[in-house]
Amino acid sequence: MSQSSPSPQDADPLLPAVGLLALDRQYEALREPIRSALERVCDSGRFVLGPDVADLESELARALDVPHAITCASGSDSLLLALMALDVNAGDEVIVPSYTFFATASAVTRLGAVPIFADIDPATYLVDPTDVERKISRRTRAIIPVHLFGRTADMDALRPIAARAGVPIVEDCAQSILSTWHGRCTGGIGDVGCFSFYPTKNLGGCGDGGFLTTTRDDLAARLKLLRVHGMEPRYHHQVIGINSRLDSLQAAVLRVKLPHLDDWTEARRANAARYRDLFVRAGLAERIALPGDETRGRHVWNQYVIRVHGGHRDALRAHLTATRVGTEIYYPIPLHLQVCFRHLGWARGDLPETERAADETLALPIYPELTADEQRTVVGRIAEFFRSATLHRPPATVTVPSAGQPLPEPHVLARTTTAARAAESRR
Ligand SMILES: Cc1ncc(COP(=O)(O)O)c(C=O)c1O
Repeated sequence: MSQSSPSPQDADPLLPAVGLLALDRQYEALREPIRSALERVCDSGRFVLGPDVADLESELARALDVPHAITCASGSDSLLLALMALDVNAGDEVIVPSYTFFATASAVTRLGAVPIFADIDPATYLVDPTDVERKISRRTRAIIPVHLFGRTADMDALRPIAARAGVPIVEDCAQSILSTWHGRCTGGIGDVGCFSFYPTKNLGGCGDGGFLTTTRDDLAARLKLLRVHGMEPRYHHQVIGINSRLDSLQAAVLRVKLPHLDDWTEARRANAARYRDLFVRAGLAERIALPGDETRGRHVWNQYVIRVHGGHRDALRAHLTATRVGTEIYYPIPLHLQVCFRHLGWARGDLPETERAADETLALPIYPELTADEQRTVVGRIAEFFRSATLHRPPATVTVPSAGQPLPEPHVLARTTTAARAAESRR
Protein backbone atom coordinates (compact mmCIF):
# COMPACT_ATOMS: atom_id res chain seq x y z
CA MET A 1 0.00 0.00 0.00
CA SER A 2 1.25 3.47 -0.88
CA GLN A 3 2.20 5.69 2.07
CA SER A 4 2.07 8.90 0.03
CA SER A 5 -0.85 11.28 0.66
CA PRO A 6 -2.85 12.19 -2.43
CA SER A 7 -3.80 15.82 -2.86
CA PRO A 8 -7.53 16.65 -2.60
CA GLN A 9 -7.53 17.28 -6.39
CA ASP A 10 -7.08 13.52 -6.82
CA ALA A 11 -10.45 12.97 -5.15
CA ASP A 12 -13.30 11.73 -7.33
CA PRO A 13 -15.78 14.67 -7.47
CA LEU A 14 -18.70 12.30 -7.98
CA LEU A 15 -18.31 10.73 -4.53
CA PRO A 16 -20.32 12.34 -1.69
CA ALA A 17 -17.91 14.40 0.39
CA VAL A 18 -17.84 14.32 4.19
CA GLY A 19 -15.81 17.17 5.60
CA LEU A 20 -13.93 16.95 8.88
CA LEU A 21 -15.90 20.04 9.89
CA ALA A 22 -18.96 21.85 8.55
CA LEU A 23 -19.09 25.14 10.44
CA ASP A 24 -21.45 26.53 7.79
CA ARG A 25 -24.23 24.22 9.00
CA GLN A 26 -24.18 25.71 12.49
CA TYR A 27 -24.04 29.22 11.09
CA GLU A 28 -26.97 28.55 8.75
CA ALA A 29 -29.12 27.47 11.69
CA LEU A 30 -28.25 30.60 13.71
CA ARG A 31 -27.69 33.14 10.93
CA GLU A 32 -30.41 35.59 11.98
CA PRO A 33 -29.77 35.76 15.75
CA ILE A 34 -26.01 36.00 15.15
CA ARG A 35 -26.39 38.84 12.69
CA SER A 36 -28.73 40.79 14.91
CA ALA A 37 -26.40 40.30 17.91
CA LEU A 38 -23.49 41.64 15.85
CA GLU A 39 -25.57 44.59 14.74
CA ARG A 40 -26.57 45.33 18.32
CA VAL A 41 -22.90 45.51 19.37
CA CYS A 42 -22.00 47.70 16.39
CA ASP A 43 -24.86 50.04 17.25
CA SER A 44 -23.72 50.22 20.89
CA GLY A 45 -20.15 51.26 20.06
CA ARG A 46 -18.82 49.07 22.91
CA PHE A 47 -16.29 46.74 21.27
CA VAL A 48 -13.97 45.56 24.04
CA LEU A 49 -15.23 43.88 27.22
CA GLY A 50 -18.54 45.72 27.95
CA PRO A 51 -22.00 44.36 28.85
CA ASP A 52 -21.99 41.40 26.44
CA VAL A 53 -18.72 40.15 27.89
CA ALA A 54 -19.97 40.55 31.47
CA ASP A 55 -23.20 38.72 30.62
CA LEU A 56 -21.33 35.94 28.82
CA GLU A 57 -19.11 35.45 31.88
CA SER A 58 -22.16 35.09 34.16
CA GLU A 59 -23.81 32.68 31.72
CA LEU A 60 -20.65 30.56 31.42
CA ALA A 61 -20.24 30.43 35.21
CA ARG A 62 -23.85 29.25 35.51
CA ALA A 63 -23.53 26.67 32.70
CA LEU A 64 -20.35 25.18 34.21
CA ASP A 65 -21.50 25.62 37.80
CA VAL A 66 -18.34 27.46 38.86
CA PRO A 67 -18.20 30.71 40.85
CA HIS A 68 -15.90 32.54 38.40
CA ALA A 69 -15.60 32.64 34.60
CA ILE A 70 -13.19 35.25 33.20
CA THR A 71 -12.92 35.75 29.46
CA CYS A 72 -9.73 36.60 27.56
CA ALA A 73 -8.44 36.82 23.99
CA SER A 74 -7.66 33.14 23.29
CA GLY A 75 -7.22 29.70 24.80
CA SER A 76 -3.47 30.16 24.52
CA ASP A 77 -3.69 33.35 26.56
CA SER A 78 -5.86 31.63 29.14
CA LEU A 79 -3.01 29.17 29.84
CA LEU A 80 -0.49 31.99 30.02
CA LEU A 81 -2.71 34.01 32.36
CA ALA A 82 -3.30 30.99 34.60
CA LEU A 83 0.43 30.39 35.02
CA MET A 84 1.04 34.12 35.60
CA ALA A 85 -1.69 34.18 38.24
CA LEU A 86 -0.03 31.20 39.95
CA ASP A 87 3.35 32.99 39.94
CA VAL A 88 5.15 30.55 37.70
CA ASN A 89 8.53 32.10 36.96
CA ALA A 90 11.78 31.54 35.10
CA GLY A 91 13.44 28.25 36.00
CA ASP A 92 10.28 26.72 37.46
CA GLU A 93 9.08 23.37 36.11
CA VAL A 94 5.56 22.63 34.91
CA ILE A 95 4.50 19.08 34.05
CA VAL A 96 2.54 18.83 30.80
CA PRO A 97 1.68 16.07 28.35
CA SER A 98 3.63 16.08 25.08
CA TYR A 99 0.61 14.73 23.20
CA THR A 100 -1.37 17.98 23.02
CA PHE A 101 -1.62 21.25 21.13
CA PHE A 102 1.47 23.46 21.24
CA ALA A 103 -0.10 26.15 23.45
CA THR A 104 -0.15 23.87 26.51
CA ALA A 105 3.66 23.94 26.62
CA SER A 106 4.40 27.32 25.02
CA ALA A 107 2.56 29.09 27.85
CA VAL A 108 5.19 27.58 30.16
CA THR A 109 8.20 28.57 28.07
CA ARG A 110 6.90 32.11 27.51
CA LEU A 111 7.40 32.66 31.23
CA GLY A 112 10.94 31.26 31.12
CA ALA A 113 9.74 28.15 32.93
CA VAL A 114 10.51 24.61 31.73
CA PRO A 115 7.90 22.16 30.44
CA ILE A 116 8.54 18.66 31.74
CA PHE A 117 6.80 16.27 29.39
CA ALA A 118 4.87 13.27 30.69
CA ASP A 119 3.73 10.26 28.67
CA ILE A 120 0.11 9.23 28.08
CA ASP A 121 -2.11 6.30 28.84
CA PRO A 122 -2.35 4.50 25.45
CA ALA A 123 -6.01 3.60 26.01
CA THR A 124 -7.23 7.18 26.54
CA TYR A 125 -4.40 9.37 25.12
CA LEU A 126 -4.60 11.35 28.40
CA VAL A 127 -1.63 12.15 30.58
CA ASP A 128 -0.41 9.14 32.59
CA PRO A 129 -0.59 10.04 36.33
CA THR A 130 2.18 7.54 37.15
CA ASP A 131 4.55 9.34 34.82
CA VAL A 132 3.45 12.71 36.20
CA GLU A 133 4.32 11.56 39.71
CA ARG A 134 7.67 10.25 38.52
CA LYS A 135 8.48 13.69 37.09
CA ILE A 136 7.65 15.80 40.15
CA SER A 137 10.75 17.58 41.45
CA ARG A 138 11.68 20.29 43.94
CA ARG A 139 11.17 22.79 41.11
CA THR A 140 7.68 21.68 40.06
CA ARG A 141 5.27 24.62 40.32
CA ALA A 142 2.19 23.30 38.50
CA ILE A 143 0.70 20.36 36.62
CA ILE A 144 -1.33 20.90 33.43
CA PRO A 145 -3.48 17.90 32.54
CA VAL A 146 -5.19 18.29 29.14
CA HIS A 147 -8.72 16.94 28.78
CA LEU A 148 -7.81 15.92 25.27
CA PHE A 149 -10.46 15.32 22.61
CA GLY A 150 -13.17 16.12 25.19
CA ARG A 151 -12.38 13.39 27.71
CA THR A 152 -11.38 14.16 31.28
CA ALA A 153 -7.84 13.33 32.41
CA ASP A 154 -7.66 11.01 35.41
CA MET A 155 -8.33 13.65 38.05
CA ASP A 156 -8.89 11.00 40.76
CA ALA A 157 -5.22 10.09 40.45
CA LEU A 158 -3.82 13.54 39.61
CA ARG A 159 -5.36 15.51 42.46
CA PRO A 160 -3.66 13.54 45.26
CA ILE A 161 -0.35 13.69 43.36
CA ALA A 162 -0.62 17.49 43.12
CA ALA A 163 -1.69 17.75 46.76
CA ARG A 164 1.28 15.65 47.95
CA ALA A 165 3.63 17.85 45.88
CA GLY A 166 1.89 21.02 47.10
CA VAL A 167 1.37 22.32 43.55
CA PRO A 168 -1.76 23.60 41.77
CA ILE A 169 -3.50 21.93 38.84
CA VAL A 170 -4.21 24.01 35.73
CA GLU A 171 -6.77 22.13 33.65
CA ASP A 172 -6.39 22.59 29.89
CA CYS A 173 -10.09 22.48 28.95
CA ALA A 174 -9.69 23.89 25.43
CA GLN A 175 -11.38 20.75 24.05
CA SER A 176 -13.58 19.81 26.98
CA ILE A 177 -16.26 22.43 27.63
CA LEU A 178 -19.23 20.82 29.47
CA SER A 179 -17.37 17.57 30.06
CA THR A 180 -17.79 16.29 33.60
CA TRP A 181 -16.01 14.16 36.18
CA HIS A 182 -18.12 12.67 38.97
CA GLY A 183 -20.77 15.28 38.15
CA ARG A 184 -18.47 18.31 38.14
CA CYS A 185 -17.57 20.22 35.01
CA THR A 186 -13.93 20.25 33.99
CA GLY A 187 -12.44 23.61 34.82
CA GLY A 188 -13.87 23.45 38.33
CA ILE A 189 -11.91 20.40 39.49
CA GLY A 190 -8.35 21.79 39.62
CA ASP A 191 -7.30 25.27 40.70
CA VAL A 192 -7.98 26.93 37.36
CA GLY A 193 -9.47 25.84 34.02
CA CYS A 194 -8.42 27.21 30.62
CA PHE A 195 -10.85 27.21 27.67
CA SER A 196 -10.75 28.15 24.00
CA PHE A 197 -13.44 29.65 21.75
CA TYR A 198 -11.45 28.83 18.60
CA PRO A 199 -14.06 28.20 15.86
CA THR A 200 -13.50 24.40 15.78
CA LYS A 201 -14.08 23.98 19.50
CA ASN A 202 -17.41 22.69 20.82
CA LEU A 203 -18.33 26.31 21.62
CA GLY A 204 -16.56 28.25 18.88
CA GLY A 205 -16.73 31.96 18.13
CA CYS A 206 -16.29 33.83 14.86
CA GLY A 207 -12.59 34.26 15.62
CA ASP A 208 -10.26 33.87 18.60
CA GLY A 209 -11.33 33.94 22.21
CA GLY A 210 -10.98 32.08 25.48
CA PHE A 211 -11.88 32.05 29.16
CA LEU A 212 -10.77 30.81 32.54
CA THR A 213 -12.69 29.27 35.40
CA THR A 214 -11.78 29.00 39.04
CA THR A 215 -13.37 28.28 42.37
CA ARG A 216 -10.73 30.45 44.10
CA ASP A 217 -11.67 34.11 44.72
CA ASP A 218 -7.99 35.14 44.98
CA LEU A 219 -7.17 33.71 41.56
CA ALA A 220 -10.28 35.24 39.95
CA ALA A 221 -9.30 38.71 41.15
CA ARG A 222 -5.73 38.26 39.93
CA LEU A 223 -6.82 36.97 36.52
CA LYS A 224 -9.13 39.95 36.01
CA LEU A 225 -6.22 42.25 36.78
CA LEU A 226 -3.67 40.39 34.64
CA ARG A 227 -5.82 40.44 31.50
CA VAL A 228 -5.92 44.28 31.50
CA HIS A 229 -2.20 45.09 31.93
CA GLY A 230 -2.50 44.71 35.70
CA MET A 231 -4.36 48.04 35.65
CA GLU A 232 -6.67 49.06 38.51
CA PRO A 233 -7.84 51.84 38.61
CA ARG A 234 -7.25 53.30 35.15
CA TYR A 235 -3.55 53.99 34.44
CA HIS A 236 -2.46 52.61 37.80
CA HIS A 237 -0.62 49.31 37.23
CA GLN A 238 -0.50 46.97 40.23
CA VAL A 239 1.27 44.10 38.47
CA ILE A 240 2.70 43.51 34.99
CA GLY A 241 -0.14 41.95 33.05
CA ILE A 242 -0.94 41.54 29.38
CA ASN A 243 -3.61 42.78 26.98
CA SER A 244 -5.97 39.83 26.66
CA ARG A 245 -9.56 41.00 26.51
CA LEU A 246 -12.47 39.40 24.69
CA ASP A 247 -14.13 41.46 21.95
CA SER A 248 -17.79 42.32 22.51
CA LEU A 249 -18.56 41.02 19.01
CA GLN A 250 -17.23 37.58 19.97
CA ALA A 251 -19.13 37.65 23.26
CA ALA A 252 -22.37 38.52 21.46
CA VAL A 253 -21.96 35.57 19.04
CA LEU A 254 -21.04 33.20 21.85
CA ARG A 255 -24.10 34.26 23.85
CA VAL A 256 -26.29 33.20 20.91
CA LYS A 257 -24.54 29.83 20.75
CA LEU A 258 -24.17 28.94 24.44
CA PRO A 259 -27.85 27.94 24.98
CA HIS A 260 -27.41 25.30 22.23
CA LEU A 261 -24.20 23.80 23.59
CA ASP A 262 -25.84 21.08 25.63
CA ASP A 263 -27.84 19.82 22.61
CA TRP A 264 -24.76 19.98 20.38
CA THR A 265 -22.84 18.00 22.97
CA GLU A 266 -25.52 15.33 23.08
CA ALA A 267 -25.44 15.16 19.26
CA ARG A 268 -21.66 14.58 19.39
CA ARG A 269 -22.19 11.84 21.97
CA ALA A 270 -24.84 10.20 19.80
CA ASN A 271 -22.47 10.34 16.82
CA ALA A 272 -19.71 8.69 18.83
CA ALA A 273 -22.08 5.91 19.90
CA ARG A 274 -23.24 5.46 16.30
CA TYR A 275 -19.64 5.20 15.03
CA ARG A 276 -18.96 2.46 17.56
CA ASP A 277 -22.01 0.56 16.47
CA LEU A 278 -21.19 0.95 12.77
CA PHE A 279 -17.54 -0.03 13.21
CA VAL A 280 -18.42 -3.10 15.24
CA ARG A 281 -21.09 -4.18 12.75
CA ALA A 282 -18.62 -3.71 9.88
CA GLY A 283 -16.17 -6.00 11.67
CA LEU A 284 -13.61 -3.19 11.93
CA ALA A 285 -13.22 -3.04 15.70
CA GLU A 286 -10.29 -5.47 15.39
CA ARG A 287 -8.50 -3.44 12.74
CA ILE A 288 -8.69 -0.11 14.52
CA ALA A 289 -8.85 0.85 18.19
CA LEU A 290 -12.06 2.77 18.83
CA PRO A 291 -12.06 5.55 21.43
CA GLY A 292 -13.78 4.63 24.67
CA ASP A 293 -16.50 6.62 26.38
CA GLU A 294 -15.93 8.15 29.80
CA THR A 295 -17.23 6.00 32.64
CA ARG A 296 -16.79 8.57 35.42
CA GLY A 297 -18.49 11.47 33.69
CA ARG A 298 -19.44 13.00 30.37
CA HIS A 299 -17.16 12.80 27.34
CA VAL A 300 -17.91 15.72 24.98
CA TRP A 301 -16.16 14.39 21.87
CA ASN A 302 -14.42 17.45 20.49
CA GLN A 303 -12.62 14.85 18.38
CA TYR A 304 -13.32 11.22 17.47
CA VAL A 305 -9.87 9.68 17.20
CA ILE A 306 -9.21 6.13 16.11
CA ARG A 307 -5.93 4.22 16.30
CA VAL A 308 -4.94 2.36 13.14
CA HIS A 309 -2.91 -0.75 13.78
CA GLY A 310 -0.10 -2.17 11.71
CA GLY A 311 1.42 0.99 10.24
CA HIS A 312 -1.56 1.63 7.95
CA ARG A 313 -2.63 5.03 9.30
CA ASP A 314 -1.14 7.18 6.55
CA ALA A 315 -2.36 4.89 3.77
CA LEU A 316 -5.86 4.88 5.28
CA ARG A 317 -5.77 8.67 5.46
CA ALA A 318 -4.68 8.85 1.81
CA HIS A 319 -7.58 6.58 0.85
CA LEU A 320 -10.05 8.74 2.78
CA THR A 321 -8.73 11.92 1.18
CA ALA A 322 -9.04 10.31 -2.26
CA THR A 323 -12.63 9.31 -1.48
CA ARG A 324 -13.50 12.77 -0.08
CA VAL A 325 -13.62 12.05 3.64
CA GLY A 326 -11.93 14.73 5.74
CA THR A 327 -9.55 13.60 8.49
CA GLU A 328 -6.80 15.14 10.59
CA ILE A 329 -3.87 13.95 12.64
CA TYR A 330 -3.88 15.31 16.19
CA TYR A 331 -0.89 15.51 16.59
CA PRO A 332 1.71 14.23 14.12
CA ILE A 333 4.79 15.48 16.01
CA PRO A 334 4.74 15.26 19.82
CA LEU A 335 5.84 18.44 21.56
CA HIS A 336 8.99 16.93 23.07
CA LEU A 337 10.25 16.31 19.50
CA GLN A 338 9.43 19.76 18.12
CA VAL A 339 12.36 21.75 16.72
CA CYS A 340 11.64 24.74 18.99
CA PHE A 341 12.01 22.55 22.09
CA ARG A 342 15.21 20.82 20.94
CA HIS A 343 17.25 22.75 23.49
CA LEU A 344 15.31 20.97 26.25
CA GLY A 345 17.16 17.77 25.38
CA TRP A 346 14.34 15.30 24.70
CA ALA A 347 14.85 12.49 22.20
CA ARG A 348 12.77 9.94 20.31
CA GLY A 349 12.06 7.01 22.61
CA ASP A 350 11.65 9.19 25.72
CA LEU A 351 7.83 9.03 25.63
CA PRO A 352 7.00 5.80 23.79
CA GLU A 353 3.20 5.89 24.10
CA THR A 354 3.06 9.52 22.97
CA GLU A 355 5.23 8.74 19.95
CA ARG A 356 3.17 5.66 19.07
CA ALA A 357 -0.07 7.67 19.28
CA ALA A 358 1.39 10.36 17.00
CA ASP A 359 2.14 7.65 14.41
CA GLU A 360 -1.13 5.73 14.67
CA THR A 361 -4.07 8.04 15.39
CA LEU A 362 -6.53 9.63 13.00
CA ALA A 363 -9.44 11.99 13.72
CA LEU A 364 -12.73 11.45 11.87
CA PRO A 365 -15.65 13.89 11.43
CA ILE A 366 -17.77 14.08 14.63
CA TYR A 367 -19.47 17.51 14.56
CA PRO A 368 -23.08 17.73 15.84
CA GLU A 369 -24.68 18.26 12.42
CA LEU A 370 -23.01 15.16 10.90
CA THR A 371 -25.76 12.88 9.59
CA ALA A 372 -26.10 9.13 10.10
CA ASP A 373 -25.72 8.68 6.34
CA GLU A 374 -22.45 10.60 6.38
CA GLN A 375 -21.21 8.41 9.22
CA ARG A 376 -22.13 5.31 7.20
CA THR A 377 -20.12 6.75 4.30
CA VAL A 378 -17.08 7.28 6.55
CA VAL A 379 -17.23 3.75 7.95
CA GLY A 380 -17.93 2.32 4.47
CA ARG A 381 -14.81 4.03 3.07
CA ILE A 382 -12.70 2.65 5.91
CA ALA A 383 -14.10 -0.86 5.35
CA GLU A 384 -13.32 -0.47 1.66
CA PHE A 385 -9.71 0.41 2.49
CA PHE A 386 -9.21 -2.67 4.63
CA ARG A 387 -10.86 -4.90 2.01
CA SER A 388 -8.49 -3.67 -0.68
CA ALA A 389 -5.53 -3.76 1.72
CA THR A 390 -6.41 -7.37 2.42
CA LEU A 391 -6.48 -8.20 -1.27
CA HIS A 392 -3.28 -6.38 -2.21
CA ARG A 393 -1.07 -7.42 0.63
CA PRO A 394 1.00 -10.57 0.03
CA PRO A 395 1.07 -13.34 2.62
CA ALA A 396 3.65 -12.72 5.36
CA THR A 397 5.67 -15.79 4.44
CA VAL A 398 5.41 -17.13 0.95
CA THR A 399 5.97 -20.85 0.79
CA VAL A 400 5.19 -23.04 -2.14
CA PRO A 401 2.77 -25.68 -0.90
CA SER A 402 3.69 -29.19 -1.80
CA ALA A 403 1.12 -31.43 -3.40
CA GLY A 404 -1.70 -32.29 -1.04
CA GLN A 405 -0.94 -29.36 1.34
CA PRO A 406 -3.75 -26.76 1.72
CA LEU A 407 -3.14 -23.50 -0.12
CA PRO A 408 -2.27 -20.52 2.11
CA GLU A 409 -5.11 -18.21 3.00
CA PRO A 410 -4.79 -15.17 0.67
CA HIS A 411 -6.34 -12.66 3.10
CA VAL A 412 -3.45 -12.63 5.51
CA LEU A 413 -4.23 -9.22 6.96
CA ALA A 414 -7.74 -10.32 7.78
CA ARG A 415 -6.45 -13.18 9.89
CA THR A 416 -3.64 -11.34 11.65
CA THR A 417 -3.96 -11.98 15.36
CA THR A 418 -4.21 -9.15 17.84
CA ALA A 419 -0.83 -10.11 19.31
CA ALA A 420 0.85 -10.10 15.90
CA ARG A 421 -0.67 -6.72 15.15
CA ALA A 422 0.53 -5.33 18.44
CA ALA A 423 4.05 -6.58 17.73
CA GLU A 424 3.90 -5.10 14.24
CA SER A 425 2.74 -1.72 15.49
CA ARG A 426 5.54 -1.64 18.08
CA ARG A 427 8.22 -1.98 15.40
C1 LIG B 1 -5.48 21.43 24.04
C2 LIG B 1 -5.44 22.87 23.60
N1 LIG B 1 -4.87 23.78 24.40
C3 LIG B 1 -4.83 25.07 24.06
C4 LIG B 1 -5.36 25.53 22.87
C5 LIG B 1 -5.21 26.97 22.50
O1 LIG B 1 -6.42 27.61 22.24
P1 LIG B 1 -6.50 28.84 21.22
O2 LIG B 1 -6.37 28.31 19.83
O3 LIG B 1 -7.84 29.45 21.48
O4 LIG B 1 -5.40 29.79 21.54
C6 LIG B 1 -5.98 24.63 22.02
C7 LIG B 1 -6.59 25.08 20.75
O5 LIG B 1 -6.36 24.61 19.70
C8 LIG B 1 -6.02 23.25 22.37
O6 LIG B 1 -6.59 22.34 21.59
